[in-house]
Amino acid sequence: MRFRPRNHRDENPEVFAQLVKTNPYMARVYDYPELLIPHPTLENFQQLWDSKKENVPASSGRVHLEIGCGSGRYLIEWAQENPKDAFIGLELRYKRLVLAAKKIEQQTISNILLMREHGEFIDEYLPHNSIDCMHINFPDPWSKKSRRKHRILSADFLTKMHPFFCSGGELRFKTDHLEYFETVTDIIQNLETHKIVEYSKDLHQNEYNAKNILTEFEMLFKSKGNPPIGYLKATAQ
Ligand SMILES: C[S@@+](CC[C@H](N)C(=O)[O-])C[C@H]1O[C@@H](n2cnc3c(N)ncnc32)[C@H](O)[C@@H]1O
Repeated sequence: MRFRPRNHRDENPEVFAQLVKTNPYMARVYDYPELLIPHPTLENFQQLWDSKKENVPASSGRVHLEIGCGSGRYLIEWAQENPKDAFIGLELRYKRLVLAAKKIEQQTISNILLMREHGEFIDEYLPHNSIDCMHINFPDPWSKKSRRKHRILSADFLTKMHPFFCSGGELRFKTDHLEYFETVTDIIQNLETHKIVEYSKDLHQNEYNAKNILTEFEMLFKSKGNPPIGYLKATAQ
Protein backbone atom coordinates (compact mmCIF):
# COMPACT_ATOMS: atom_id res chain seq x y z
CA MET A 1 0.00 0.00 0.00
CA ARG A 2 1.52 3.30 -1.07
CA PHE A 3 0.57 6.65 0.42
CA ARG A 4 0.71 9.85 -1.59
CA PRO A 5 3.82 11.95 -1.05
CA ARG A 6 2.93 14.52 1.62
CA ASN A 7 2.37 18.18 0.81
CA HIS A 8 3.84 19.64 3.99
CA ARG A 9 4.04 23.17 2.58
CA ASP A 10 0.28 23.53 2.19
CA GLU A 11 -0.79 21.14 4.96
CA ASN A 12 1.28 22.62 7.74
CA PRO A 13 3.52 25.61 6.90
CA GLU A 14 5.16 25.65 10.35
CA VAL A 15 6.23 22.02 10.10
CA PHE A 16 7.35 22.71 6.54
CA ALA A 17 9.57 25.60 7.71
CA GLN A 18 11.25 23.26 10.20
CA LEU A 19 11.71 20.48 7.65
CA VAL A 20 13.27 22.86 5.13
CA LYS A 21 15.97 23.72 7.66
CA THR A 22 17.23 20.13 7.49
CA ASN A 23 16.43 19.54 3.82
CA PRO A 24 16.51 22.77 1.77
CA TYR A 25 15.62 20.80 -1.37
CA MET A 26 12.09 20.47 0.01
CA ALA A 27 11.68 24.17 -0.80
CA ARG A 28 13.75 24.18 -3.97
CA VAL A 29 11.41 21.76 -5.75
CA TYR A 30 9.11 24.77 -6.16
CA ASP A 31 11.71 26.71 -8.20
CA TYR A 32 10.93 25.00 -11.52
CA PRO A 33 7.18 25.41 -12.13
CA GLU A 34 7.66 25.03 -15.90
CA LEU A 35 9.08 21.54 -15.62
CA LEU A 36 8.69 20.05 -12.12
CA ILE A 37 5.40 19.34 -10.34
CA PRO A 38 6.03 18.79 -6.59
CA HIS A 39 2.39 17.88 -5.88
CA PRO A 40 0.77 16.55 -9.01
CA THR A 41 -2.98 16.53 -9.59
CA LEU A 42 -4.68 15.43 -12.77
CA GLU A 43 -5.30 19.11 -13.59
CA ASN A 44 -1.79 20.52 -13.06
CA PHE A 45 -0.27 17.46 -14.74
CA GLN A 46 -2.52 17.77 -17.79
CA GLN A 47 -1.80 21.47 -18.20
CA LEU A 48 1.99 21.12 -18.08
CA TRP A 49 2.08 17.88 -20.06
CA ASP A 50 0.05 19.42 -22.88
CA SER A 51 2.49 22.34 -22.99
CA LYS A 52 5.49 19.97 -23.03
CA LYS A 53 4.04 18.03 -25.93
CA GLU A 54 3.45 21.29 -27.81
CA ASN A 55 7.14 22.14 -27.28
CA VAL A 56 8.25 19.11 -29.24
CA PRO A 57 8.96 20.19 -32.82
CA ALA A 58 7.51 17.82 -35.42
CA SER A 59 6.47 15.58 -32.57
CA SER A 60 6.66 11.85 -33.12
CA GLY A 61 3.96 11.51 -30.47
CA ARG A 62 6.12 8.95 -28.69
CA VAL A 63 5.83 9.10 -24.93
CA HIS A 64 8.46 7.83 -22.48
CA LEU A 65 8.03 7.35 -18.77
CA GLU A 66 10.93 6.80 -16.38
CA ILE A 67 10.05 5.62 -12.88
CA GLY A 68 12.72 6.54 -10.33
CA CYS A 69 14.67 8.87 -12.61
CA GLY A 70 17.11 9.94 -9.88
CA SER A 71 19.04 13.08 -10.87
CA GLY A 72 18.00 12.67 -14.48
CA ARG A 73 21.21 11.61 -16.24
CA TYR A 74 19.59 8.80 -18.25
CA LEU A 75 16.33 10.68 -18.89
CA ILE A 76 18.15 13.77 -20.15
CA GLU A 77 20.36 11.81 -22.52
CA TRP A 78 17.37 9.92 -23.91
CA ALA A 79 15.46 13.18 -24.36
CA GLN A 80 18.39 14.81 -26.14
CA GLU A 81 18.83 11.81 -28.46
CA ASN A 82 15.09 11.77 -29.18
CA PRO A 83 14.03 15.43 -29.43
CA LYS A 84 10.75 14.52 -31.15
CA ASP A 85 9.61 12.39 -28.19
CA ALA A 86 8.11 13.59 -24.90
CA PHE A 87 9.33 12.37 -21.49
CA ILE A 88 7.92 12.07 -17.97
CA GLY A 89 10.31 11.41 -15.07
CA LEU A 90 8.98 10.30 -11.70
CA GLU A 91 11.12 10.57 -8.59
CA LEU A 92 10.45 10.83 -4.87
CA ARG A 93 13.63 12.33 -3.47
CA TYR A 94 13.70 16.12 -3.34
CA LYS A 95 17.41 16.59 -3.96
CA ARG A 96 17.44 14.28 -6.98
CA LEU A 97 14.43 16.08 -8.46
CA VAL A 98 16.06 19.47 -7.98
CA LEU A 99 19.36 18.31 -9.52
CA ALA A 100 17.48 16.89 -12.51
CA ALA A 101 15.40 20.06 -12.94
CA LYS A 102 18.50 22.25 -12.71
CA LYS A 103 20.23 20.31 -15.51
CA ILE A 104 17.11 20.33 -17.68
CA GLU A 105 16.74 24.09 -17.24
CA GLN A 106 20.44 24.83 -17.83
CA GLN A 107 20.43 22.79 -21.02
CA THR A 108 17.08 24.30 -22.12
CA ILE A 109 15.54 20.91 -22.72
CA SER A 110 11.85 21.37 -23.37
CA ASN A 111 10.53 17.82 -23.75
CA ILE A 112 10.80 16.59 -20.13
CA LEU A 113 8.30 16.91 -17.30
CA LEU A 114 9.24 15.82 -13.77
CA MET A 115 6.80 14.84 -11.03
CA ARG A 116 7.23 13.90 -7.40
CA GLU A 117 5.03 10.85 -7.50
CA HIS A 118 5.10 7.11 -6.98
CA GLY A 119 5.30 5.09 -10.18
CA GLU A 120 2.46 2.98 -8.83
CA PHE A 121 0.04 5.91 -9.32
CA ILE A 122 0.93 6.89 -12.90
CA ASP A 123 -2.23 5.15 -14.19
CA GLU A 124 -4.21 8.01 -12.60
CA TYR A 125 -2.62 10.57 -14.93
CA LEU A 126 -2.32 8.93 -18.32
CA PRO A 127 -4.98 7.49 -20.65
CA HIS A 128 -4.87 3.96 -22.03
CA ASN A 129 -2.64 3.39 -25.09
CA SER A 130 -0.36 6.29 -24.23
CA ILE A 131 3.04 4.93 -23.15
CA ASP A 132 5.56 3.98 -25.83
CA CYS A 133 8.39 3.21 -23.48
CA MET A 134 8.57 2.71 -19.73
CA HIS A 135 12.10 2.83 -18.29
CA ILE A 136 12.89 1.42 -14.84
CA ASN A 137 16.57 1.53 -13.91
CA PHE A 138 18.04 0.17 -10.69
CA PRO A 139 14.77 0.34 -8.74
CA ASP A 140 15.00 -0.13 -4.99
CA PRO A 141 15.44 -3.94 -4.70
CA TRP A 142 13.74 -4.45 -1.31
CA SER A 143 16.04 -7.44 -0.79
CA LYS A 144 14.48 -8.87 2.38
CA LYS A 145 11.77 -11.40 1.54
CA SER A 146 9.26 -9.70 3.83
CA ARG A 147 9.78 -6.36 2.01
CA ARG A 148 9.63 -7.63 -1.57
CA LYS A 149 5.97 -6.66 -1.80
CA HIS A 150 7.22 -3.06 -2.11
CA ARG A 151 9.02 -3.71 -5.40
CA ILE A 152 7.73 -1.58 -8.25
CA LEU A 153 8.04 -4.41 -10.79
CA SER A 154 5.51 -7.11 -9.98
CA ALA A 155 2.97 -9.17 -11.92
CA ASP A 156 0.18 -6.96 -10.53
CA PHE A 157 1.88 -3.72 -11.61
CA LEU A 158 2.68 -5.01 -15.10
CA THR A 159 -0.86 -6.32 -15.54
CA LYS A 160 -2.34 -3.03 -14.33
CA MET A 161 -0.09 -1.04 -16.65
CA HIS A 162 -0.60 -3.18 -19.75
CA PRO A 163 -3.59 -1.20 -21.14
CA PHE A 164 -1.58 2.02 -20.77
CA PHE A 165 1.06 0.83 -23.23
CA CYS A 166 0.69 1.57 -26.91
CA SER A 167 0.69 -1.51 -29.08
CA GLY A 168 4.30 -2.72 -29.18
CA GLY A 169 5.16 -0.39 -26.31
CA GLU A 170 8.40 -1.20 -24.50
CA LEU A 171 9.47 -1.86 -20.95
CA ARG A 172 13.20 -1.33 -20.39
CA PHE A 173 14.62 -2.59 -17.12
CA LYS A 174 18.14 -2.62 -15.70
CA THR A 175 19.35 -3.73 -12.30
CA ASP A 176 22.47 -4.93 -10.53
CA HIS A 177 20.27 -7.04 -8.22
CA LEU A 178 20.33 -10.35 -10.05
CA GLU A 179 17.68 -12.05 -7.90
CA TYR A 180 15.26 -9.18 -8.69
CA PHE A 181 16.26 -9.46 -12.35
CA GLU A 182 15.51 -13.19 -12.47
CA THR A 183 12.23 -12.73 -10.62
CA VAL A 184 11.08 -10.06 -13.09
CA THR A 185 12.22 -12.24 -16.00
CA ASP A 186 10.07 -15.12 -14.68
CA ILE A 187 7.10 -12.82 -14.12
CA ILE A 188 7.27 -11.49 -17.69
CA GLN A 189 7.73 -14.94 -19.19
CA ASN A 190 4.55 -16.04 -17.42
CA LEU A 191 2.53 -13.07 -18.66
CA GLU A 192 0.82 -13.32 -22.02
CA THR A 193 0.79 -9.54 -22.23
CA HIS A 194 4.55 -9.01 -22.62
CA LYS A 195 7.34 -10.59 -24.61
CA ILE A 196 11.06 -10.29 -23.85
CA VAL A 197 12.90 -9.18 -26.99
CA GLU A 198 16.30 -8.17 -25.60
CA TYR A 199 17.97 -9.86 -22.65
CA SER A 200 21.36 -9.92 -20.98
CA LYS A 201 22.55 -10.94 -17.54
CA ASP A 202 25.73 -8.93 -18.09
CA LEU A 203 24.83 -5.86 -20.08
CA HIS A 204 28.26 -4.24 -20.06
CA GLN A 205 29.81 -7.31 -21.72
CA ASN A 206 27.01 -7.61 -24.28
CA GLU A 207 26.35 -6.17 -27.75
CA TYR A 208 23.42 -4.14 -26.27
CA ASN A 209 25.98 -2.12 -24.36
CA ALA A 210 26.85 -0.18 -27.52
CA LYS A 211 23.52 1.69 -27.28
CA ASN A 212 23.35 1.69 -23.49
CA ILE A 213 22.81 5.03 -21.74
CA LEU A 214 24.33 5.03 -18.27
CA THR A 215 22.36 6.07 -15.20
CA GLU A 216 23.97 7.69 -12.16
CA PHE A 217 23.81 4.45 -10.19
CA GLU A 218 25.26 2.51 -13.10
CA MET A 219 28.20 4.93 -13.29
CA LEU A 220 28.77 4.39 -9.59
CA PHE A 221 28.73 0.62 -10.02
CA LYS A 222 31.16 0.87 -12.93
CA SER A 223 33.60 2.77 -10.76
CA LYS A 224 33.22 0.22 -7.93
CA GLY A 225 34.09 -3.14 -9.45
CA ASN A 226 31.57 -3.14 -12.29
CA PRO A 227 29.24 -5.97 -11.16
CA PRO A 228 27.10 -7.65 -13.84
CA ILE A 229 24.02 -5.65 -14.77
CA GLY A 230 20.84 -7.41 -15.82
CA TYR A 231 19.04 -5.76 -18.73
CA LEU A 232 15.85 -6.63 -20.54
CA LYS A 233 13.51 -5.05 -23.02
CA ALA A 234 10.00 -6.46 -23.26
CA THR A 235 7.26 -5.40 -25.67
CA ALA A 236 3.56 -5.20 -24.87
CA GLN A 237 1.55 -7.73 -26.91
C1 LIG B 1 18.43 3.07 -6.65
S1 LIG B 1 17.83 4.58 -7.19
C2 LIG B 1 18.16 4.58 -8.95
C3 LIG B 1 18.07 5.97 -9.55
C4 LIG B 1 18.31 6.01 -11.08
N1 LIG B 1 17.30 5.25 -11.78
C5 LIG B 1 19.68 5.49 -11.41
O1 LIG B 1 19.77 4.37 -11.91
O2 LIG B 1 20.65 6.21 -11.17
C6 LIG B 1 16.07 4.31 -7.17
C7 LIG B 1 15.31 5.62 -7.26
O3 LIG B 1 13.91 5.34 -7.37
C8 LIG B 1 13.21 6.27 -6.56
N2 LIG B 1 11.97 5.57 -6.20
C9 LIG B 1 11.83 4.59 -5.28
N3 LIG B 1 10.56 4.14 -5.27
C10 LIG B 1 9.90 4.85 -6.22
C11 LIG B 1 8.55 4.86 -6.67
N4 LIG B 1 7.65 4.04 -6.15
N5 LIG B 1 8.20 5.72 -7.66
C12 LIG B 1 9.12 6.57 -8.18
N6 LIG B 1 10.41 6.62 -7.78
C13 LIG B 1 10.79 5.76 -6.81
C14 LIG B 1 14.12 6.54 -5.40
O4 LIG B 1 13.85 7.78 -4.79
C15 LIG B 1 15.49 6.49 -6.04
O5 LIG B 1 15.95 7.75 -6.46
